[in-house]
Amino acid sequence: MSSELNPHDYEAFSRYLKEACGIVLGDNKQYLVQNRLHGLMKELGKDSLRALLDQAKREPNGKLTQKIVDAMTTNETLWFRDQYPFEALKRMILPELARQNLPRIKIWSAACSYGQEPYSIGMIMEEYRRDYRRHPLNNVQILATDISPTVLKHAQDGIYDSLSMGRGLSSDRRAEFFREQDGKAQVVEQVRRMVSFREINLIKPYMNLGKFHVIFCRNVLIYFSNEQKQDILNRLADALEPNGYLFLGGSESITRHCDRFTVSRAHGGMVFRLKV
Ligand SMILES: C[S@@+](CC[C@H](N)C(=O)[O-])C[C@H]1O[C@@H](n2cnc3c(N)ncnc32)[C@H](O)[C@@H]1O
Repeated sequence: MSSELNPHDYEAFSRYLKEACGIVLGDNKQYLVQNRLHGLMKELGKDSLRALLDQAKREPNGKLTQKIVDAMTTNETLWFRDQYPFEALKRMILPELARQNLPRIKIWSAACSYGQEPYSIGMIMEEYRRDYRRHPLNNVQILATDISPTVLKHAQDGIYDSLSMGRGLSSDRRAEFFREQDGKAQVVEQVRRMVSFREINLIKPYMNLGKFHVIFCRNVLIYFSNEQKQDILNRLADALEPNGYLFLGGSESITRHCDRFTVSRAHGGMVFRLKV
């Protein structure tokens, strides 16, 4: 790609990306675009953003769009990110759900990246079962979704390198919930079998998902416009059971975008609860 991006091409690309996945680039992300698309453009022999965009628009199956979105998304994640959602889940929400004797409990990790978030939830389930035997929880289903097929494939395998393993895991959890071999670690079957994976674009309709007791939609709304945040939060509210819980990222808020939740503090962070 030439070193300077044509401003019209950058603008056209920004519009196209927003339509495809909701990500709003803003005015000064030319460097990010060049950096993230460099490999793909080289692979396809494209020397300008316009040429890439034209091909993506011509392709009826959307495969190139998918590759572009894949390259442009930020997949930063870690185990038990920020701690408080997982503490609140174990100590406040799960005991409350267990008391209701529900036939099943459904949790959605709505932008799951490489899988650390849904597997951390699965580990919390195992810890809950061990620590709160008087109120057992049966039939827990964790749905993990993301727009990126690449991260989903990785997440489904549940295999992590030493760098990922060094981020957010206590040594006890590492010993209990992983099988390690040749410098790689795989999440144990007991936790993996609770989680199912699916490709879902948050800015498109969520089909046939049913209702969830808890939704994690963390560190993804920050990339979207205010209108998209509002739309997604309303649709997440529709996907929650009455009184269901929503966790957002530490720097994300609801107040300006949706009035269907009450906000409270628990275990050091914000918890959003669907109003009945
Ligand atoms: C920064 S990661 C957050 C991962 C995890 N929730 C956490 O908090 O650690 C953001 C994830 O959102 C996904 N994403 C971006 N746009 C999306 C969209 N429109 N629909 C679904 N997922 C999206 C990206 O692929 C990426 O994996």
